Amino acid sequence: MTTKQKKILVTGGAGYIGSHTVVELYHSGFQTVIVDNFSNSEKRVLDGIKAIIKQPVTLYEGNCNDETFLKNVFQQEPDITGVIHFAAYKAVGESVQKPLDYYQNNIGSLMTLLKVMSAFHVSNLVFSSSCTVYGQPDQLPVTEQSPKKMAESPYGNTKQICEEILEDFVKSQAQLKVTLLRYFNPIGAHPSAHIGELPIGVPNNLVPFIMQTASGIREKLTVFGDDYNTPDGTCIRDYIHVVDLAKAHVKSLYYLEQREGSSFFDIFNLGTGQGNSVMEVIKAFEQIQKEHLNYTIGPRRSGDVEQVYANVDKAGTLFNWKAELSLEEALIDAWRWQKA
Ligand code: UD1
Repeated sequence: MTTKQKKILVTGGAGYIGSHTVVELYHSGFQTVIVDNFSNSEKRVLDGIKAIIKQPVTLYEGNCNDETFLKNVFQQEPDITGVIHFAAYKAVGESVQKPLDYYQNNIGSLMTLLKVMSAFHVSNLVFSSSCTVYGQPDQLPVTEQSPKKMAESPYGNTKQICEEILEDFVKSQAQLKVTLLRYFNPIGAHPSAHIGELPIGVPNNLVPFIMQTASGIREKLTVFGDDYNTPDGTCIRDYIHVVDLAKAHVKSLYYLEQREGSSFFDIFNLGTGQGNSVMEVIKAFEQIQKEHLNYTIGPRRSGDVEQVYANVDKAGTLFNWKAELSLEEALIDAWRWQKA
């Protein structure tokens, strides 16, 4: 079967990383079917995708926790060859307030999906995990072998539990091939400005907050702590352009298809390999804008790790992938999207 004929189910395909991945799948000749319940996204994202790919998109609106709904999707689309499972809640702070919602949604949807995939003999799965599983690492950069640390939040715990469920399930099943992708900090937007991050309410994440401050929606950014043990005292993260991240998903599908045997599980870090501090991100944005950003230094945010960035050699070697876009390009694209 050629790539052209391959059909990939993308759960959470209207979300931030999901929508960019749908676009990259189309560019690589895949067909996609989106499942989304719009709990943390908006229907107009689909118009944005259509504007880029110049084709209609197939959507099934519903919850991955709903087995009957999911079975119906696989019945209607019997030629699905693989699944990319993005659909999950992702706000660290909210997960502390509503732990049961997070456990139910993130773990329940994965278990339901696995049951239905196995009933329909669909064996390729790409799963969205997070660098949050490493906590504050003892050694940097982190490799896939770096030890996992106790989760700081129910959100982080759901990712750890989902990783374990997948590993156990693969051991029990001769029919499932999984790549587990640990994302570092995705930022930016599609260069067309048709899709990007759509934070609902006050953004938790740094780059959307910077964009909303620069555009006057927020009065000022608070830098959460400048007394960390880092060169400028602010936390360090590995910021990766969302388009680079989306492309890694396509490579990961190719990788799964090439794997011999019917059962397989492997983990990959997806970042740039470079750490940048909060102040470096602010300065880079100020240089692009040629304007001062209104910010103030505040106290540390509870649960923040001091620094984390990836060793990405494994994805480089086995996926033949590396992040190509710079922090500056990501900030320019995020700003273009904010203005749009
Ligand atoms: C966290 C999780 C990540 C998760 C993501 C989802 C960790 C290590 N990372 O990312 O796994 O996928 O949330 O939302 O748990 N900052 C400010 N001011 C702000 C906002 C952020 O100074 O208004 C700082 C933070 O302190 C941090 C950096 O910016 O140092 C990045 O923060 P953010 O964008 O929220 O991402 P993480 O916390 O790294």
